[in-house]
Amino acid sequence: MNNALVNKVKNTFVDKFNTQPLVVFSPGRINIIGEHTDYNDGFVFPAAVNKGIVAAFQKNDSDTSVAYAIDVDDTIEFSVNSIQPLAKESWGNYVLGVIAEIQKKGITVGNFNVVFSGNIPAGSGMSSSAALENSVAFGLNELFDLGLTREEMIFISQKAEHNYVGVNCGIMDQYASMFGIKDHALLLDCRSIEAKPFHIDFEGYELMLINTNVKHSLSDSAYNDRRSVCESISEMLNIKALRDATEADLETIKDNVTEENYQKALFVIQENKRAELASKAMTDGDLKTLGELIYGSHHGLQHQYKVSCEELDYLVDQAKENHQILGARMMGGGFGGCTINLIAKSAVNDFKTKISERYKNKFGKDCSIYSVELADGTKLITD
Ligand code: GLA
Repeated sequence: MNNALVNKVKNTFVDKFNTQPLVVFSPGRINIIGEHTDYNDGFVFPAAVNKGIVAAFQKNDSDTSVAYAIDVDDTIEFSVNSIQPLAKESWGNYVLGVIAEIQKKGITVGNFNVVFSGNIPAGSGMSSSAALENSVAFGLNELFDLGLTREEMIFISQKAEHNYVGVNCGIMDQYASMFGIKDHALLLDCRSIEAKPFHIDFEGYELMLINTNVKHSLSDSAYNDRRSVCESISEMLNIKALRDATEADLETIKDNVTEENYQKALFVIQENKRAELASKAMTDGDLKTLGELIYGSHHGLQHQYKVSCEELDYLVDQAKENHQILGARMMGGGFGGCTINLIAKSAVNDFKTKISERYKNKFGKDCSIYSVELADGTKLITD
């Protein structure tokens, strides 16, 4: 989190509404391994980071609520008594969706004002959307004393994404953002919603993100399509979710599905296994194995699940050529955003310079490089 961001949001709120707000920080997330496994009831390995959304809230006694997004300098006005989705792609849907999902639980919220800004690069695959949803759920819970638990709030955020944004996401992003623990990654079982925290200290190594600065269109529909494939294969196998399938189970229906869909389901089964193996490697301090699993994850995302893109593949290929990088892969939903790299601290500077130059030469645009600091989840800012 960052004080300048908090002050900017607070001051903007006070300038606009002449009253002191309640301020919430909700972080973005990284994911070490376990991609596209969350909506298959499987394992993921995310962590909240020190970048996210700061949102300032206050009740108002009028018929109209006002939400102002500082970063795009855009305002929406609405009444909580008649919440409707806006046009697709509108940021307002993240806010309205959360209100609608709270109301669906039979809970009443009053009108309010909110101002927010963030420092998660948009489209980076670090879940600025979950951070925004969680900040709204958390802020309204505090403001109106709704008595929601953190777990209830993440499901509200997730449903907002399904019903107002149109992405049938899993629970990883909302969970990591809400429940993050400083310096820890969370091995989350997406069926039981129970997580085991792992203290992250890779000694001579660190996690580094490289943002392709691209976000290819149609990623939302590609995401939803893949989720449907997983669900229909689960149905064929007569199981609740692919988490319950082995490779041998999948083999039994191989002739009844297309090769493409077979590979997608196989990826999920294998990726789920990799997430479990990664936790073991981490417990054993075996970074070499962890790195191999991370490279394996990318290979599957690229060739089997087919959610990567040229820019991400290039960054991972470059990482592979550097023996100081034990593992690299695309992170998040795919089709752009960041790669996550497990790199020797001593190699960071040199690799940063080289990759920046090469990426620019190859694609005619800059990549951005971030070091990662693992942080606490959604919280109230009191000062
Ligand atoms: C997006 C979704 C998550 C998860 C990842 C892929 O970030 O929001 O629920 O499915 O993609 O692992």
